[in-house]
Formats: sequence, C-alpha cells, structure tokens
Amino acid sequence: MERIGIIGAMDIEIELLLGNLELKKKEKIAGFVFHIGKLFGKDVAITSCGVGKVNAASCTQILISKLGVQGIINTGIAGGLHKDVEVCDVVISRDVTHHDVRKRQMKNWFPHQEYFEGDRKLIDVAEKAFKNSQDINSSCHLGRIVSGECFVDDAQLKEQIMKDYSPHCVEMEGSAVGHVAYINDVPFVVIRSISDKADGEATMSYEKFEKITAQNAATIVMNMMKIL
Ligand code: ADE
Repeated sequence: MERIGIIGAMDIEIELLLGNLELKKKEKIAGFVFHIGKLFGKDVAITSCGVGKVNAASCTQILISKLGVQGIINTGIAGGLHKDVEVCDVVISRDVTHHDVRKRQMKNWFPHQEYFEGDRKLIDVAEKAFKNSQDINSSCHLGRIVSGECFVDDAQLKEQIMKDYSPHCVEMEGSAVGHVAYINDVPFVVIRSISDKADGEATMSYEKFEKITAQNAATIVMNMMKIL
C-alpha cells in the first residue's frame, strides 16, 4: 500500500497522529482538511471527517478518488455492546454494518452486502500493533462494529441493536467507511477504543474517557505504520 488514508470523526481522534506526522502539505477538499505526509515512514493522508455516516462516506471517497489511497483506517472511540467489552478496551473490525438500515435493503439493493469485511492483512497488522502497544492496559477484541446516525445512550435501543446484529461496539462512521471502501475495492479496517457502554450513563462516561480512548486507538494506528 503506497499511501494509507486515516480518518477520525473528531479532531481529538487524530490529534496524536498529527503530533507525530512529518507534514508535507495540507489540502482542503469539500471542507475536509487532509494532512499529507509521513507517519513513522509510511505515506499517509490524515483527516477528521466530522460525525456521522454521510461525512465519513464523502471523506472516504475523496481519499480514494482524489488522494489515491490504497488502504483506509478509521480510528476513534465507540460505545461498548458485547458483554465482554469494557471501557478502554479496543475493538478491531472483523466486519462493519449499518444498524439503522434494514438487512433486507442491504441485501436486495446495491451493493448487495449485509456487512463489509475488514481486510485480513490490516486486521493482522492491527492485532500485532495492539500487542506492541504496552501503554494500553486493556483487552483487544476482533468483532463486528455497527454504525448509525445517533449516539446510543438508551438501554432499549442498545438491546435491540445487540439482538439484531451481535456487535462488539457501536459508533457513527465505521460502516460508511467500510461501505465506500468496499464499492471501490479498497482494503479497510476500523479500530475503536471504548469510551462508554452505550447505556444511560454513556454521556458521562464518554466525557471522562474520550481523550484516553481516542489516544488508545491512535496509538495502535501509529504502531501499525511501523509494521506496514
Ligand atoms: N461513540 C462513542 N460512544 C458512542 C455511543 N454510545 N453511540 C454512538 N457512537 C459512539
């Protein structure tokens, strides 16, 4: 992979990466600022796309079509859903899907996929990178990541999503990144660290843990660059 695209939703999710980037140039396209340069020797374009799937989809397509990336990593935080997933843990995407689009629609209409599989090589590299991230004092899980257009902080919605999709965590961009990567035949992986449990206490937990968990995911991305 010549150049890797790295997308966070919020600035806090790419702060650590930008701090370590050997910046060559910045490009602004469709309101997104792309920071182009070398991250631990690897050519990258790093950007924050804003919250939500439309932003993430648009940004992913620009990375592919205009900036010529050959792989995409989505980094950031998420709400934990699986019973084994604790706050500060890391989840790597075995696959991603939209939790707010009916499975029947996904299957019957373009691109005819109920979910989008993370790239095996990027997953392996992410798992190795986690093992090399001694600062992260928590567990790493490989599993499904689901995305939708809402912050999940309601026990009933959480239960419904778990029943329908058996995911490890929920966020608001990863499935759009995976969806657009898939239709362009570009490998991707989503790496998220858990800021909250997507329940009634989610907002409080999110505020307390967003920085450390955003840094957990970014640390893994940095260690991936050393392996790739
Ligand atoms: N990102 C972090 N926590 C989340 C939650 N509970 N729901 C959606 N996106 C999130």
